Amino acid sequence: MNLIDALRSRRSIRRYQPRPIPKDLAASLIDAAQTAPSAGNLSARRYILVSNESMKRILAMAAYSQEHIESAPLLIVICADVAASSIRYGSRGSLYAIQDADAAAMCLLLAAHDAGLGGCWNGAFDDDLVREALALEDGVLPVAILSLGWPAESPARPERPRRAGDVRWID
Ligand SMILES: Cc1cc2nc3c(=O)[nH]c(=O)nc-3n(C[C@H](O)[C@H](O)[C@H](O)COP(=O)(O)O)c2cc1C
Repeated sequence: MNLIDALRSRRSIRRYQPRPIPKDLAASLIDAAQTAPSAGNLSARRYILVSNESMKRILAMAAYSQEHIESAPLLIVICADVAASSIRYGSRGSLYAIQDADAAAMCLLLAAHDAGLGGCWNGAFDDDLVREALALEDGVLPVAILSLGWPAESPARPERPRRAGDVRWID
């Protein structure tokens, strides 16, 4: 898929066919995520793949009962490894680790789209509940729960809001 076409045609998909995602395809999504840049090339990010039904239910509850999180065949929780980044970057490390995780999340969603999968970036969740459910160590912050599956909807492209001053060019 042409990159610009992929960027334009990707949508947040929240309805999925009840069909699993093969493990090798899931692994290729992680490889794609790891192509993302990261501060100092530290890759201060983690991936937790969840296909277990009871863990999906727990994460959906932690995400304020968002139903598509429970129904997705696969969740990939992307975490910022703040501790790893802070060793080199001190107080700047938490921002860098979050950006490392964000960049990976976007690459992963685009690779999923290219593979014919649908996905949604879910950022609305209770950090502490997710941390507890996944037994995350101190210094590891959950950033996004990506819900993934074979699409069962094709939503229209939403308008993008534009505000005065959103884009400035200092030439
Ligand atoms: C940081 C972030 C957090 C988001 N959190 C949620 C969420 O918790 N639940 C959800 O259904 N969608 C969530 N979304 C998806 C947005 O609603 C979606 O990207 C937006 O409506 C634009 O639609 P599009 O992705 O199809 O272009 C989130 C997206 C981002 C980038």
